[in-house]
Amino acid sequence: MRRAHSREGGLPHLRARAFSPQRQKSALNRRARVHKTPSNGPADEAEIRDPVNSTAVGNTIMSAFLHETVLDVHHWTDTLFSFTATRSPSFRFENGQFAMIGLEVEGRPLVRAYSMVSTNYDEKLEFFSIKVPDGPLTSRLQHIKEGDRILVGKKPTGTLMLDNLLPGRTLYLLSTGTGLAPFMSIIRSPDTYERFEKVVLVHGCRHVNELAYGERITQELPGDEYIGDAVRERLVYYPTVTREPYQNRGRITDLISSGKLFSDIGTAPLVTEADRVMLCGSPQMIADMRAYLVGQKFDEGSSSEPGHFVIEKAFVEK
Ligand code: A2P
Repeated sequence: MRRAHSREGGLPHLRARAFSPQRQKSALNRRARVHKTPSNGPADEAEIRDPVNSTAVGNTIMSAFLHETVLDVHHWTDTLFSFTATRSPSFRFENGQFAMIGLEVEGRPLVRAYSMVSTNYDEKLEFFSIKVPDGPLTSRLQHIKEGDRILVGKKPTGTLMLDNLLPGRTLYLLSTGTGLAPFMSIIRSPDTYERFEKVVLVHGCRHVNELAYGERITQELPGDEYIGDAVRERLVYYPTVTREPYQNRGRITDLISSGKLFSDIGTAPLVTEADRVMLCGSPQMIADMRAYLVGQKFDEGSSSEPGHFVIEKAFVEK
């Protein structure tokens, strides 16, 4: 529903000038900048708002989104949930990318960056989210149900792409919390196994019940008709928790710097010649891991220059 004042007249010729295409474009660019850095999951919950109360600008902003229908919602814990939605045929993306996802609120998009859990060959879209009690988007999004409509930004983007990495032998996918999302897509990408002999997926959480998707990885993927052989033979899944007893314990940073991860899974410690790393999760984990990798002479890659590792910050809301 549009706000009443945006329908109210004013002077049409003045409104037309005030909201010229150029002005609309720069307004959109300003909006876009808010969301370029974070990825996957609700970023800083800074809302996308019309810079001015204008139906014209609102319509232009809304045209940047596809309307999809929620198919299924799964609540992992009080603070984590996943959902699937229809996927328009026009929505194309690379595995590992994110898009702006959210809801239409009062005729305007309220969206955050979410990585696709699903792959670019899946018919449905899937996303993994935290629930923030006072988060403008997630306080609403956590209540979505089958049949509800969501917005999906038409322009997926992101850094966690194989092309941004130099060739290597072992790919380490290091995540905390909902930072797992893009790696769920990457571990199901045939391209991943064409480029790497071995893929190591580490998921770090505070508690065992936050290790979402564990069963899918260990029970379903090995039997997958497309990717099952590669998963069985070349994917290593290493879930670890920090705040209660579990088979693997400790922070990712500590497990790597102490060498425990490598001795547990039977690989050699990281070397630039053979190993490539993708990081997604808490900003602190990323900052610490990045410092560690840079200290080991690993170069950060980007779309302009591939490197030994790439990172995507995951949306932490406080
Ligand atoms: P810890 O429990 O020791 O803080 P969060 O829920 O805060 O995003 O954390 C998710 C996981 O990431 C937790 O297991 C947490 O461990 C871990 N973590 C937090 N900060 C870091 C860091 N700087 N380096 C490595 N792991 C971290």
